[in-house]
Amino acid sequence: MKIGLFSDSHYSSKELSCKKRYNNQSLRKIKEAMEAFSAAKCDLVLCLGDVIDSEPEHETEIANLRAVAEILDQYGIDTFCLMGNHDGFRFDQDEFYGILGESRRPRDLSSGGTSLIFVDACYHCDGEHYHPGRSDWKDVCYPHVTELKDRLQRAEGEICLFLHQNLDPSVEARHILHNAAEIRSILEACGRVKTVYQGHYHPGLMSEHGGISYVTLPAMCENENCFFVVEI
Ligand SMILES: [Fe+2]
Repeated sequence: MKIGLFSDSHYSSKELSCKKRYNNQSLRKIKEAMEAFSAAKCDLVLCLGDVIDSEPEHETEIANLRAVAEILDQYGIDTFCLMGNHDGFRFDQDEFYGILGESRRPRDLSSGGTSLIFVDACYHCDGEHYHPGRSDWKDVCYPHVTELKDRLQRAEGEICLFLHQNLDPSVEARHILHNAAEIRSILEACGRVKTVYQGHYHPGLMSEHGGISYVTLPAMCENENCFFVVEI
């Protein structure tokens, strides 16, 4: 299975934010990525979150997310989008996938002996899912650990796991889930998890821990040609 990957487009009308995020360039970059994924005949496209960035008016955020959906619609490639913290603090889940399209809500799948598992880790440590009105992105903890264990057990063959925030202990600490160590030990105990793909930490990183590869995609909003095709 050939998969097109990108993360952290942070699309908004701003020219520049945080000194290095070229927010308003990301619509063009998503189109360029989709052109490349289409040319490479990808079976699936995955966006690992932070699709949009904030605007003063929610109406503009809705229009921005619609503009992204319209681009994704043009290529006829199945596309899943995980929510990132920026998405979760501006949209509740149903509004987000209502605009992007329900088919873009990630669901576990398997192909050719490999399983793809998607983890929405946009949860605060009190167990509440991210929603508009809160904004502490460093308060992140995945509460559905028992369910994750079951999903891993049920999954066939080798497993690739996808999430926005970071499990990789090599990433800068404030980007890492509060219960990442517990989740990593579950992944290691499963014995079939090959690679964990993440976004969120914008510089990107590749590392290995406990026999599992951790790939953190660099942020699309900070780079040109920042999309990847992997064979899984
Ligand atoms: Fe981000």
